[in-house]
Amino acid sequence: GLPERVRIHEVGPRDGLQNEKGTVPVEVKAEFIERLAAAGLTTIEATSFVHPKWVPQLADAEELFPRVAALASSGVRLPVLVPNDRGLERALALGATEVAVFGSATESFAKANLNRTVDEALAMFAPVVARAKDAGLRVRGYLSMCFGDPWEGSVPVEQAAAVGRRLLDLGCDELSLGDTIGAATPGHVTALLDALTGGGTPLQRVAVHFHDTYGQALSNTLAALQRGVTTVDASAGGLGGCPYAKSATGNLATEDLVWMLNGLGIDTGVDIGRLTATSVWMAGQLGRPSPSRTVRALSHQ
Ligand code: HMG
Ligand code: MG
Repeated sequence: GLPERVRIHEVGPRDGLQNEKGTVPVEVKAEFIERLAAAGLTTIEATSFVHPKWVPQLADAEELFPRVAALASSGVRLPVLVPNDRGLERALALGATEVAVFGSATESFAKANLNRTVDEALAMFAPVVARAKDAGLRVRGYLSMCFGDPWEGSVPVEQAAAVGRRLLDLGCDELSLGDTIGAATPGHVTALLDALTGGGTPLQRVAVHFHDTYGQALSNTLAALQRGVTTVDASAGGLGGCPYAKSATGNLATEDLVWMLNGLGIDTGVDIGRLTATSVWMAGQLGRPSPSRTVRALSHQ
């Protein structure tokens, strides 16, 4: 069966904007986040506290986060990415209450994205997760390249499941399965979820994070919902990609997801009209139309 309610983990301001060629002004980022909250999104990944040379698009995290932090008092969760102690330090200094570390199922991407092996990356995360949990923060563990990798090809489910379990064992509250290059298909999704449940991981702790490179993101999401996943990552207007994975395009568009969930009678709390208006506004800021089919259909673009 399908869940009655799905929590959308909105990643547009982070995964979406980290891949923009130009730098989006901090006021525009803040307004984007405020508008997403006003459209009913309750978890909005705001930015990353990574090395500014690695992701210059998000180098304004110190300026942005305080501008939107007040949303927390109206119940909006504002997770941020932190790869290491330095990142956690920066996030704690600004009062962040939710962070995410981000590992890789493959060695090639661990090297490209974190300059570490898979083991070294997990060793880097261990004290970050421990300290964040001690400080009362909620911690998400991303796992990238769960299905396919641009250098290594198809990724065996046991390999992805094993690294995923290690992230949860570090103390992460939630594991987000990343299809960084959008290569997954529904049978592969089901197989990975079954490998995780077979190893004792409850799917209440698992989120799915699909990129739409091959147009499979919605089908993959439906397969995950049918297995019992209730948290889905999406990016308003389908913005996104990863600067350290060439074949990554935008994430599953939040509007496409909400359109499907509305049709299935699954509650998300999101007002699709207000969300679409936000993505149309953002497309204007970025100077190109949204790739989301639902945004285009609803805005007659
Ligand atoms: P490194 O070069 O190995 O860094 O990068 P290091 O640990 O050797 O440190 C070198 C210098 O950087 C030091 O300064 C540190 O203080 C500084 P120095 O002592 O030389 O003056 N430094 C920092 N400064 C500010 N903030 C920090 C920080 N850390 C170190 N946090 C590092 C290692 C992890 C830092 C680097 O590789 C990095 O920042 N990577 C981030 C890459 C990234 O953000 N990728 C995109 C997000 S992942 C993604 O998009 C996938 C996802 O969406 C899921 C999916 O789709 O699969 C989540
Ligand atoms: Mg991503």
